[in-house]
Amino acid sequence: MGWSRKHLLGLEDVGRDEITTILDTASKFREVLDRPVKKVPTFRGITVVNLFFEASTRTRMSFELAEKRLSADVMNFSASTSSLKKGETLRDTARNIEAMKVDMVVMRHPSPGAPHFLTNHIDASIINAGDGPHEHPTQALLDLFTMRENVGDLQGKRVTIVGDIVHSRVARSDIWGLVTMGATVTLCGPKTFMPAEVEAMGVTVSHDIREATADADIVNILRIQRERQEGCFLPSLREYTDLFGIDSDRLAAMRPDVLIMHPGPINRGVELAPDVADGPRSVILDQVTNGVAVRMAVLYLLSRVRASERVDEPEILAEVTI
Ligand code: CP
Repeated sequence: MGWSRKHLLGLEDVGRDEITTILDTASKFREVLDRPVKKVPTFRGITVVNLFFEASTRTRMSFELAEKRLSADVMNFSASTSSLKKGETLRDTARNIEAMKVDMVVMRHPSPGAPHFLTNHIDASIINAGDGPHEHPTQALLDLFTMRENVGDLQGKRVTIVGDIVHSRVARSDIWGLVTMGATVTLCGPKTFMPAEVEAMGVTVSHDIREATADADIVNILRIQRERQEGCFLPSLREYTDLFGIDSDRLAAMRPDVLIMHPGPINRGVELAPDVADGPRSVILDQVTNGVAVRMAVLYLLSRVRASERVDEPEILAEVTI
């Protein structure tokens, strides 16, 4: 029981006990966020850089807030205004930033494996904040946290993920995390949106939205990634909405206590109708709130390992409570 990793690059090889440690630690930080003073001194003297090579609203702001709530020194890097524009390489950029004595790097990059590449070139702890269509582990962890908060233990819970699975790093990380935690996962969408041999990940595939959502405890709806549609994946957005969009009629055919989730940003009126996104079954903004606590927990656990202190769960929980 505990956490011994220096980096968080994905959820594919992260075990049940490790995920439970993160979620339990996040619960303690979630309590901190409800206090009048939403800050702990844990990261005094630790410097974190947010290295974003791709657009982001939620992940970038959530990490920055998590770092500030932990009292870290925070630097933000934006590719569009950096010396990458003058031809500097990723490796040189990272090594120069590390030379400023940075302890941890949060990285979003359009290329799968970019955060893994960085671990071979700098000593800082690396957190993957989304690498192309590969993984987005902290999004999956905040999804798991929000699910657990609402439906309890995920063992045996039925989760349906709807949409653009093939382009989705969120889907990939969600699937690894959910299967590890014992949930039953169904993927639903057009055949062109399903990765080849995805069943090998331990999921079921359906192309019938009513069948796939009828008994689901949780329906997690993904964004149609217009920026990644280079092939002929869809005849039209309108056809997608007709066949797979979640509106109030489709919601009415689901369980009355179903949980509606979406990682954001939402294409309103495409994959999700506005009245469902903003309706009583939606926990979309709770996901965002919980994301700060989950990212505080990930930063905290990695920093402890970086300080070469093997942590045990009771010790973590005791300290976070202070
Ligand atoms: N969910 C998510 O990753 O959103 P951003 O792209 O805004 O960070």
